[in-house]
Amino acid sequence: MNDKKRILTGDRPTGRLHVGHYVGSIQNRVRLQDEYETILLIADLHMLTTKPEKEHIEAVTDNARQMVYDSLACGIDPDKCTIYLQSAVPETHELNLYLEMLVTVPRLQRLPSLKEMARSAHLNEMPFGLLGYPVLQSADILLPRAHLVPVGKDNVAHVELTRELARRFNNLYGEVFPIPDFMMGEIATLVGTDGQAKMSKSLDNVILLSDDAKTVEKRVRGMFTDPNRVSADVPGTVEGNPVFIYHDAFNPNTAEVNDLKARYRAGSVGDVEVKQKLAAALNAFLDPIRERRATYESRKGYVDEILYEGTLKMRDEAKQTIYAVRKAMGLTGIWNKISRKAEEARKKRAT
Ligand code: TRP
Repeated sequence: MNDKKRILTGDRPTGRLHVGHYVGSIQNRVRLQDEYETILLIADLHMLTTKPEKEHIEAVTDNARQMVYDSLACGIDPDKCTIYLQSAVPETHELNLYLEMLVTVPRLQRLPSLKEMARSAHLNEMPFGLLGYPVLQSADILLPRAHLVPVGKDNVAHVELTRELARRFNNLYGEVFPIPDFMMGEIATLVGTDGQAKMSKSLDNVILLSDDAKTVEKRVRGMFTDPNRVSADVPGTVEGNPVFIYHDAFNPNTAEVNDLKARYRAGSVGDVEVKQKLAAALNAFLDPIRERRATYESRKGYVDEILYEGTLKMRDEAKQTIYAVRKAMGLTGIWNKISRKAEEARKKRAT
């Protein structure tokens, strides 16, 4: 690889990506792919922390492909970026284990994101692996020795842990890892169409990057607005109102958005008009994404090749880091001494 600074980020392969992923992280990935050497992972090992059942594993192949399509459709350039499958890079496990020694259980137990993940997976008690989620994530980030991690808000605390682990490792064993920074999207977490804190497939409140125009219109028609506004002639609240959050995020026509906001506050525009304009804006935003997706989809086997090449490249990279890690820790030395002595002993006996 070259001497540009590196980005590492990725997603669990649980389904297609949505517009929340776009504003949270994908937009940054696309914007920064020229400046940074960008590596994207399909985090199927992370998926196992809450979905270890075979049915979920069987769905990974297709979900991974769909996610690659989504990324390419958004403008990720496959000639510039590396995309790889986490479970096919076994060095991940090895680095994960070394990092596990450098963090305490209470430090992990305090992370709200993990409690939240356990709760939404309906787990009464914390699985050991889920507690280790951010350590595994740190292994992903440190394996290619990344400098920057574009993520959504719920992942920021994980990158903070990565920084601690990298510092701890470097202090104990010598400088191996850069201390990575995180970068949050302009909108750290996009509310769902139902006004819930977060877009998520399980809440059925998402707009997918691959939704067609009709689906988007239907979704927007069903969106939550100001619950206190009973009719169009009542002044409404713009702040925190999902339809206006989306207008701000996806409607580039600020004059139109400001006009709608003013009339909404004054009680002189109905939800219908606000929503129609939002659906039009979203569809205009999604059109080029749909077009690019269709182009890539027509090239059979293309995403498999991208994932394959990317994973091979990442394996090479991972081997180099693990070599440096083992050497810094002194693990390489143990084996070297033992094997040298063994060879000597063997030779002596032979003479
Ligand atoms: N935690 C990310 C998610 O919420 C996925 C992920 C795994 C990741 N490893 C990572 C993100 C490394 C950034 C960097 O799906």
